Amino acid sequence: ADGSVDIPVVVNILYKSSAENISDARIAEQIAILNADFAGTNTDATKIPTEFSGVKAGDTQVRFHLVKTVRKATTKTKWGTNDAMKKSSSGGIDATSPANYFNLWVVGNMGGILGYATFPESAGLWNDGVVIAAPYFGKTGTTAPYNLGRTATHEVGHYLNLRHIWGDASCGNDQVADTPTQTGANYGKPTYPLYNTCSGTSRSVMFMNYMDYVDDAAMFMFSAGQKARSQSVLTSSGARSGL
Ligand code: ARG
Ligand code: ZN
Ligand code: CA
Repeated sequence: ADGSVDIPVVVNILYKSSAENISDARIAEQIAILNADFAGTNTDATKIPTEFSGVKAGDTQVRFHLVKTVRKATTKTKWGTNDAMKKSSSGGIDATSPANYFNLWVVGNMGGILGYATFPESAGLWNDGVVIAAPYFGKTGTTAPYNLGRTATHEVGHYLNLRHIWGDASCGNDQVADTPTQTGANYGKPTYPLYNTCSGTSRSVMFMNYMDYVDDAAMFMFSAGQKARSQSVLTSSGARSGL
């Protein structure tokens, strides 16, 4: 296959309260957000600065569709990043054939953590997939500044091999040529242009990229380089060719 793919999604929900037992409608809402953000049809794409319009991804040709929802009641009040939610032996839900399905777990609470993901190196392993804390999943019932379902967009970016845009270092490398180097993560709702100096060059960073740490309302694009990088894992020779 080429890089264009409609990824089958299994949503695994671990709930203690009924509020954590996310409705089917809210799951559909989150899938629709992923589809809009990856298609570049998100309404706020109009805010992409002219400086970056030439390198925006537009349609990444990656889509998502729900195949199954698994629900399980739990007495656990707090989860962490130790993958306990991904194993029935530790109170979680086992992944459904992770080489062929994108597994997404929703848990009630992870302390301050919004979500986390495995990179394509973990393709097909028992722990492969994305975890999102319920308050940040979908749109209905969520609160600003993480109320537009973009925690999932960011985490799925990781799942498809995208690094943080600042390369997790000062003026670090995210392995994508068309995202400007930046000194670190950005937070909140920055105003464009936002200048950084890396290697002696001052220019505005692409803080509105989904792979930065800004508020949901402040992130609205992937770049063409990120599209190419994520598509390459979905080709027949890519780590996620089984999806
Ligand atoms: N901190 C998380 C991570 O590094 C997710 C950040 C998501 N940001 C957002 N605006 N929803 O994977
Ligand atoms: Zn991240
Ligand atoms: Ca870059």
